[in-house]
Amino acid sequence: MKFFADTAEIEDIRKLADTGLLDGVTTNPSLIKKSGRDFIEVVKEIVKVVPGPVSAEVVALDHDGMMKEAEVLRKIADNITIKVPLTPDGLKTCKALSSDGTMVNVTLCFSANQALLAAKAGATFISPFVGRLDDISQSGIDLIADIRMIYDNYDFGTEILVASVRNPVHILESAKIGADVMTAPPSVIWQLFKHPLTDNGIAAFLKDWEATGQQI
Ligand code: E4P
Repeated sequence: MKFFADTAEIEDIRKLADTGLLDGVTTNPSLIKKSGRDFIEVVKEIVKVVPGPVSAEVVALDHDGMMKEAEVLRKIADNITIKVPLTPDGLKTCKALSSDGTMVNVTLCFSANQALLAAKAGATFISPFVGRLDDISQSGIDLIADIRMIYDNYDFGTEILVASVRNPVHILESAKIGADVMTAPPSVIWQLFKHPLTDNGIAAFLKDWEATGQQI
């Protein structure tokens, strides 16, 4: 499973990239607002830190407007992935960009039928939002399982990018289903390393090692 960081905070991205485990980054207009940074400037910095796909989202709602914005964004670097909303214009834009060799991430997916449309439009990634579905008492993880089944039925190459991840259980369940990618806030990714028995085990080993009086 590929790990993407869902953030526009460059220092957080650098720290995760240092682990060697970061495969990409996703941003959206809300994350750009939260960063307080200029959109183009921060994306230019991110693509230098992470060689994998970096999603940058268009804000136009019509196909022509999306194409114009995508033109600006895709010039930034080869690893830019254009993020478009799951609307008829978004999917028309997805089809045009993906036919032209540009990576496209179709975002704001909340149903398996929407995911089917995105795959037919040639999306590189489909982003189902698990957390926001859970928020309205629908199972986000059930949606991931449905999309996996449908994509496998037809051998679609579109990668399932689990988004709106809120906790490590979302990642565990998505990995069990076979989702291709997950994007999560850095705080959630760091939680994956933690287990109290690991911390206790290190403390006990160090104590015993000190008692031996040896050095490596
Ligand atoms: C990523 O591509 C999405 O925009 C993001 O995961 C949405 O997460 P949220 O529901 O926590 O805002």
